[in-house]
Amino acid sequence: MKVRFVNVSHYYQNYLPDATVALNDINFEIRQNECIGIIGPSGSGKTTLVQHFTGLLQPSEGKVFIDDDDISKVDYDINSLRRKIGVIFQFPESQLFEETVYEDVSFGPKNFGLDEDEIDTRVRETFQLVDLNFEKMKSRSPFKLSEGEKRRVALAGIISMNPEMFILDEPTACLDASGIRRIEKLLLNLYQLGKTIILVSHNLDFVIKLCRRIIVIERGKIIFDGPRRELFKNNSILEKAGLELPRIMRYARKLKELEYIEEDKVYSIGELKKLFSV
Ligand SMILES: Nc1ncnc2c1ncn2[C@@H]1O[C@H](COP(=O)(O)OP(=O)(O)O)[C@@H](O)[C@H]1O
Ligand SMILES: [Mg+2]
Repeated sequence: MKVRFVNVSHYYQNYLPDATVALNDINFEIRQNECIGIIGPSGSGKTTLVQHFTGLLQPSEGKVFIDDDDISKVDYDINSLRRKIGVIFQFPESQLFEETVYEDVSFGPKNFGLDEDEIDTRVRETFQLVDLNFEKMKSRSPFKLSEGEKRRVALAGIISMNPEMFILDEPTACLDASGIRRIEKLLLNLYQLGKTIILVSHNLDFVIKLCRRIIVIERGKIIFDGPRRELFKNNSILEKAGLELPRIMRYARKLKELEYIEEDKVYSIGELKKLFSV
């Protein structure tokens, strides 16, 4: 699946002269099995952008194309698009609605008309993929879970529909370190299955570990789109976006200054360790 945004702008119509320009002339293309980080400070337009991928918002100007089809056309099948692009919103509660975790995760497959056995197999596989214990979790209320569990159940509800692309809006919000590591592992799995992953976040530490391509958005405009190492060539883009250098890179720079290592383009602890083992 290919996604293309062409001159997309979005104004929230407040019926006031100072209507907010949330997106300002956005252009990019995303191909199958890319892993892309969209970063920017709070209020820069990230969540607004996410809503344009599946037509939850209509551009005030410009167009969104999926596989070269204009999704704003009246005869465009928006429901099947919403099955192909799974969006996990910032507040997982907004996506949980059934009485039990099992029902929540099986909701999608049920609607595809699969038979009971196929549904059950798919739900069990999904539980395993998101690292939730099937017997322990299946009958629990999704609303009485920890933040990390809620997010994984919301993700499971999307995964069970087998979309081609996953968009996660602030996937690390309210999670502790172990919750973040679990999501990270899961995303790597999905990526290896050939899925396209889009991580939307102000948490640069998380995003750079997983994504080689980074898009930086600031006040509704794209100010950078390219490989992550380009982003760190100078500090001006991050400064402009009010974002700090990731912690791992601050350490690496320090270690380079102290002449322990020669390279400071490292994006994870694993990579830093490797520099010491040679
Ligand atoms: N429903 C809305 N109505 C009016 N303005 C909004 C609405 N949602 C967001 N905005 C405004 O649009 C801008 C971008 O918001 P948002 O897309 O939520 O940014 P981010 O996700 O990067 O924090 C902000 O100025 C925000 O106040
Ligand atoms: Mg947001």
